[in-house]
Formats: sequence, C-alpha cells, structure tokens
Amino acid sequence: MSDYNQDLLTQEVMKAFATPQAGRLGEIMSSLVKHLHAFTREVDLKPEEWLAGLQFLTKTGQISTERRPEFILLSDVLGLSMMVVSLTQARESKSIVGATEATVEGPFYWEGAPEVGLGGNIAEGVVGEPAYYTGTVTDVAGTPLPGALLDLWSGDGEGNYDVQLSATPSMQARGKIRTDAQGQFRFWSIRPTFYPIPSDGPVGDLMRATHRSINRPGHIHMMVSAEGHVPVTTHLFVANSPYLDQDAVFGKRDSLVVAFAPHAPGTAPDGTVMTKQYYTTSYNFRLAPVSA
Ligand code: BEZ
Ligand code: FE
Repeated sequence: MSDYNQDLLTQEVMKAFATPQAGRLGEIMSSLVKHLHAFTREVDLKPEEWLAGLQFLTKTGQISTERRPEFILLSDVLGLSMMVVSLTQARESKSIVGATEATVEGPFYWEGAPEVGLGGNIAEGVVGEPAYYTGTVTDVAGTPLPGALLDLWSGDGEGNYDVQLSATPSMQARGKIRTDAQGQFRFWSIRPTFYPIPSDGPVGDLMRATHRSINRPGHIHMMVSAEGHVPVTTHLFVANSPYLDQDAVFGKRDSLVVAFAPHAPGTAPDGTVMTKQYYTTSYNFRLAPVSA
C-alpha cells in the first residue's frame, strides 16, 4: 500500500467510527485510531510484533479478576492512570491553584474501614516502625475544615497490604479519621516502606523485558473529603525512600513527599510512652471548593 493509501486507510477508519450517532465514543475511537495508526507507522510494526502485542493483551485479560485488575496495572505502568488523575483534578478543581495534588488510587482500596478516634492507631498489631501523623485539612485559602474525613490505607512495614496476606483477609492498617474543630487530625500508624507492584503476570514480564523497576516508594494512601469541597485521592510519600524517583506507576509528586523524623524511645507528642524508636510526620491537606 502506498503512503497515500495508508493515509486514506486511517481517514476511512476514523470516519467509520465518528458517526453522528456515536457521540463521545465515536470521538474517542476516531482519535484512538488516528494515534494507533500513526504509532504503527512510526515504529514500522512487523507482523510478529503485532501478534506479540495481541498475545500480551490476551494474557492480561486471562489473568484479570476483580482482586487482580491486571489491565488497571497496565494502565498504571503506562502512566495512563496518572494522566487521567491529573486531567480529572484539573477539570474538577477548575484549575484552582493550591489544592493538594491527587495521585493514583491503586488496587488495594477497601471501602468500609473503621472510624478511629482522633489520635488512635490505625495499625494496631501491624508489623512496622510506629509513626505519629499530624496535620490539618483546610480549603485552598488556608481556612480549617472541621469534620473533614481522611480514609486511610497503608501497607505494613514489610510492604504488604492486608489483601495480599490472605485469601480471606481482615482489615489492617486502614482507618477513617475526622478532623477536630480546628481542622486538625492526628493518628498513629507505621512508617510505610517501598514495595513491588504485583509482578507475576504479563505486566511484570513487560517490566522485566524493558528493564524497569517494579517498585513503588514508601507511601500511605488517603481519600480526603469535606462538605462543599472536591475530594482528593492521594498519598504521602516517605522522604528518602528507595525508588522515590523510579515509581513504577509514576504516582510520586514532589508536593506529597514528607520527612519522617526519627525519635529515640521516650514520651511521644501525645504523651504515649514509646519503648522503641518511632517517627513523627506532618502534612496540611488543602481542598478546592466545589464550583457553583
Ligand atoms: C498502590 O500504591 O497501592 C499501587 C498503585 C498502583 C499499582 C499497584 C499498587
Ligand atoms: Fe500503595
């Protein structure tokens, strides 16, 4: 087929999808075809490469279950999830500068974490080094938001989430905390450590074949919400964690990296007597108003 006919082919397929009745789906498919054809031509895709790609997608589908969402993992390592997160936050916040940056949700969120009283421990009995988290939730102008909710989840000190430790897991290192009248929160958990993304499937094979790191830097997840404000799904990353600059899913944002100060055994800021080393850290979350 001549170059001219390759262009014609692309236009023909784009037109086939972009019917008036197809609406937004037609728009998306037509653009996908445009970029997919351009990519195919740019790399001069060989038949065996095309087939290998299709076999990879087939395997990705075959291994996928609700608890093992391999296609979402593929989207994560392609940076596609992070791109959608970033576009969504910009759209929902109408680009208001100053809101806490969002990042990927990941596959380990579990709805229904227990409400833990202010200052409580969301990781009672979980392996890891204790860490005391404090901070505020405010609006973008810095006004405190009382009653804001932090829905928190974290791996343990060895990098495992509860759902990875058992086929019938019970919740651990998860909890909901509400800010007080001054918009302040405090809770105990562990200092999170780096861990590998699930890598025993086709996405893991792809990462190894392309010599990419499969690790995520240490982080704790949270969804932060408050009445009248745009909720944010985000993380706090541990400063100096290994892999901070090679996050396998591109979720790290500099604005979300926080120091965890080490403390010798002794009396913690809330009066708890600690018999082993512990850490303290602090962060101020800022939420954008819902636009009228
Ligand atoms: C996570 O941080 O929990 C995660 C995010 C994306 C892929 C795998 C894990
Ligand atoms: Fe995580």
